[in-house]
Amino acid sequence: MLRICWANSRKLLLNKAKCPNSAANCFHLQTKLGYHENYERSLKETSAYWAEAAENLVWVKKWNRVLDNSNPPFTKWFTGGEMSHCYNCIDRHIDEGNGDRLAIIHDSPVTNTIQNLTYKDLLKQVSCLAGCLSDIGVQKGDRVLIYMPMIPQAVVAMQAAIRLGGIHVVVFGGFAAKELSVRIDNCKPKVVISASCGVEPSRIVQYKPILNEAIGMATHKPLKTIIYQRPDMDLAEMKEDDLDWNDLMSRDRSHDCVPVESNHPLYLLYTSGTTGLPKAVVRPTAGHSVRLHWSMKAIYGMDPGDVFWSASDLGWIVGHSYICHAPLVHGNTTLMFEGKPVGTPDGTTFFRIIQDHKVAALFVAPTALRAIKQEDPDALLGKKFDLSSMRTLFVAGEHCDVDTMRWSKAAFQVPVLDHWWQTETGSAITASCVGLGNRPDPPESSTGLPVPGWNLKVVDNNGVEVKRGTLGNIVAQLPLPPGTFQTLWNQDERFQNTYFTKYEGHYDTMDAGMQDEEGYISVMSRTDDVINVAGHRLSCGHIEEVINSHEQVVECAVVALDDKLKGSIPFGFIVVKSDCSNPKSFLPSIIKLVRDVIGPVAAFKHAVFVKRLPKTRSGKTPRNTLQAICNRQPYKVSPTIEDASVYPDLENSIHEYSFS
Ligand code: COA
Ligand code: AMP
Repeated sequence: MLRICWANSRKLLLNKAKCPNSAANCFHLQTKLGYHENYERSLKETSAYWAEAAENLVWVKKWNRVLDNSNPPFTKWFTGGEMSHCYNCIDRHIDEGNGDRLAIIHDSPVTNTIQNLTYKDLLKQVSCLAGCLSDIGVQKGDRVLIYMPMIPQAVVAMQAAIRLGGIHVVVFGGFAAKELSVRIDNCKPKVVISASCGVEPSRIVQYKPILNEAIGMATHKPLKTIIYQRPDMDLAEMKEDDLDWNDLMSRDRSHDCVPVESNHPLYLLYTSGTTGLPKAVVRPTAGHSVRLHWSMKAIYGMDPGDVFWSASDLGWIVGHSYICHAPLVHGNTTLMFEGKPVGTPDGTTFFRIIQDHKVAALFVAPTALRAIKQEDPDALLGKKFDLSSMRTLFVAGEHCDVDTMRWSKAAFQVPVLDHWWQTETGSAITASCVGLGNRPDPPESSTGLPVPGWNLKVVDNNGVEVKRGTLGNIVAQLPLPPGTFQTLWNQDERFQNTYFTKYEGHYDTMDAGMQDEEGYISVMSRTDDVINVAGHRLSCGHIEEVINSHEQVVECAVVALDDKLKGSIPFGFIVVKSDCSNPKSFLPSIIKLVRDVIGPVAAFKHAVFVKRLPKTRSGKTPRNTLQAICNRQPYKVSPTIEDASVYPDLENSIHEYSFS
């Protein structure tokens, strides 16, 4: 049955090649047309535009409708179509004669190893693991949770789940057992795939005990756990019914791709909201596949075979999209990096990798660049390496300051392009689309122009558009382009209420910014309580919930403290019980609590103890004034504050605090 499907799909591929309107032709045309024509077409001839992009991929069944916006915001793309993202990421390249091309280069300075996998190697492993998962009982729609370090096995696991029509759920390794257990209970995975350990520069992170603790805490119990024992490292202790990855991979198993309907969930990815309640973005299969394939050329200017390096972690959206899904679906070589920009062993690592693997484009968070800049303020290190393969450096994840931008241009000797992203969107909202001819020197501090498909406006709190150059809320008119999130897992109402009620007919990005006369967007800050720590998105509300659970704490407020390296870090204003004589003595146990519950990634290390917090008449704590105070910036006390006499105490506590 399946074979017939794939035979059909191959026929489709042949048809595609003969069709005068073939994908390659259409795409060539799109890139020739230039940015402005593309942008206009994406909004005015939306269905035709994305249908052309979709023809680049192999479909088992062609869609009935490109865009179904009959029930906004639950927009559907390519309805009735059937495809396998795994087929398009792996098998397709082999069928097209590119099986010997490198799919993955794994460069791991923390283990001193480099590993190369061709598309054929990748297929063998993915197909075998899919066969083993199927033997365990994983079927279309089942969740497979992946808690792994930055190793190729993590990509193999993601693709194997997709091959079966399963839904992968990757959880970042820097989260603690409690966070992992909350996610297990929320998505109820049939199988969990993990590894014996991760390697951080300062320590070995033993994943198995964290996983055991998480499963112990969770109500839902996965059917099986698969553990990859990392070579030359301490073996994880296996429980009786744990399965050994290497054992499974030695079996003679394989599995063909299971096609799914276009809007079948490809993956869930948890992200931060205003509370600790888990919020998993649901990514639709086909729209995502089409959009990411399109983006590799249009946004990043990549040709198949080019080496693309996204120096993120697979546990974040940038890692999902641009380590795993986009480079593979576009037939590129994806570079997986297991290390840090500095300290593994030093600030030359990024330059060495670009030279050794002929990287064409690097995508990185500004924090990583700031870390190298601290070691190499005069941008001299890069000059010792051959960086001639590099065409562009892309940054995203947090605001990139002008100094870092200028330093990066000097250090990497290529255009440095900022672009704006969210977990919800899965790919860039604004960018300099180099493949569509955007200029490689956009205005400094801008994140580029709206990417085709994004109809953006900057509005005031009443939803009225503000003048160009004025700060406001950035919203996007519906329908959102293919590949954006289709809901929150099991929470349709929260999806609708969180993002689509404040500005009717629009998606509330919860980012504030402005648009200049030429259309360039600058993103300034979040309008909710989400903060960006080293490009990692964290919820102040969630950190507050954890601090409030400390037995001595009455209440607290967490805000973003500016940080030279990480952009910002969380900072607490904490009120403890009145009978505590030495509140400062609780700080270590509060820090430990946040680390134990959320994980080291929260980077919570600083707080002051105050007698009271300011409150508005409706009982809310105005975080904006607290943020200004801890950053020693001027602030205005709103007339809605009940008792403004609390402010001098807050200011004193900051003056007395040692930030070292
Ligand atoms: N598994 C387990 N622990 C992890 C982890 C992982 N995958 N990733 C990070 N951690 C831990 C770190 O060991 C550290 O723990 P510590 O407090 O015991 O030292 C903590 O989480 C914070 O990590 P990190 O934010 O990486 O800070 P750092 O001080 O170790 O390194 C940088 C600083 C600048 C080198 C680092 O933040 C960096 O490379 N940033 C780039 C950010 C990025 O790529 N973001 C992706 C979004 S696009
Ligand atoms: P995440 O969902 O983890 O990718 O984080 C998304 C948030 O990161 C956005 O809502 C922005 O606040 C911030 N962000 C991402 N890219 C940029 C950028 N280029 N400039 C400024 N902020 C950014």
